[in-house]
Amino acid sequence: MGEIAIEVDGLRKSYDGVEAVRGLSFGVERGEVFGLLGPNGAGKTTTVEILEGYRERSAGEVRVLGHDPQVRDRELQQRVGIVLQSCGFYPRLTVREAVEHMAKAYPRPRDPRETIDLVGLGEKADARSNKLSGGQRRRLDLALALVGDPELVFLDEPTTGFDPAARRAAWGVIDTLKDLGKTVLLTTHYLDEAQALADRVAIVKDGAMVAEGPPSDLGPSSAGYRVSYLAGGRRVEHQTDDPTDLLHRLTGDAIARGEPLEGLEVARPTLEDVYLELTESARCDVEQEPRQR
Ligand SMILES: Nc1ncnc2c1ncn2[C@@H]1O[C@H](COP(=O)(O)OP(=O)(O)OP(=O)(O)O)[C@@H](O)[C@H]1O
Ligand SMILES: [Mg+2]
Repeated sequence: MGEIAIEVDGLRKSYDGVEAVRGLSFGVERGEVFGLLGPNGAGKTTTVEILEGYRERSAGEVRVLGHDPQVRDRELQQRVGIVLQSCGFYPRLTVREAVEHMAKAYPRPRDPRETIDLVGLGEKADARSNKLSGGQRRRLDLALALVGDPELVFLDEPTTGFDPAARRAAWGVIDTLKDLGKTVLLTTHYLDEAQALADRVAIVKDGAMVAEGPPSDLGPSSAGYRVSYLAGGRRVEHQTDDPTDLLHRLTGDAIARGEPLEGLEVARPTLEDVYLELTESARCDVEQEPRQR
């Protein structure tokens, strides 16, 4: 076990008697990228904002870099960078002014110009932030979180609204943070993003944990491989634990019929499949049986 950056033990949060977080426990090691996943209203932002010190918890223990974030502490604030789910701090400032302003809040900031370039806003450095597009504003949010060169970064849906190229660029930025040994707590609804970036993920539903582990280790309860092909223009899918045997049978039958097996695909379940299985309460399972899609 490495050194712990974030510890959450039995965290609870009620809003007017409604429990948004119901006994969450997890830990994030230093240098780790940890993904918090879950449906809308699962309690991700509530949890992240408690860790950031923006919200008080109702019960449970929380430690961020050894501090209780509820006790507002300048030293802790200077070691942490934050992208809130909804932002837009300084509508009248230019990108450069906003980033330079934020840099002043930190003892050893990054170079503001370099940070603006890092998030791909170089050409917009002199634009007012209220004149940016949605995705550009989100990039500014990322620059504001990174300019202090923090050791721990909270990113609540950092790439929502990004175009595909910008999302890949942001992944590059987050990978760079990881290479620099920073700790990242990330929420996202993009499961490919979690799969690409996170060392470990926690899947949260109704304020409670339903699964935790490295994305590749979160196996679905249903069969491990999907084998599919086209028959009469429709895709037929089988789920199986033993693709070798199934493929032998399918291809053998096709060869015997003298027909090719069109559009043959063999796939492992993605993190998205696992996520949907764990978070959807009513899902029609068709294990082992062929199904059409
Ligand atoms: N300030 C608040 N007052 C009352 N209820 C709140 C407040 N903030 C959040 N909630 C409720 O707490 C629950 C969890 O909300 P939260 O924002 O933490 O979810 P989330 O997992 O971040 O969802 P999303 O994916 O939509 O961002 C929701 O049911 C929400 O309505
Ligand atoms: Mg949220």
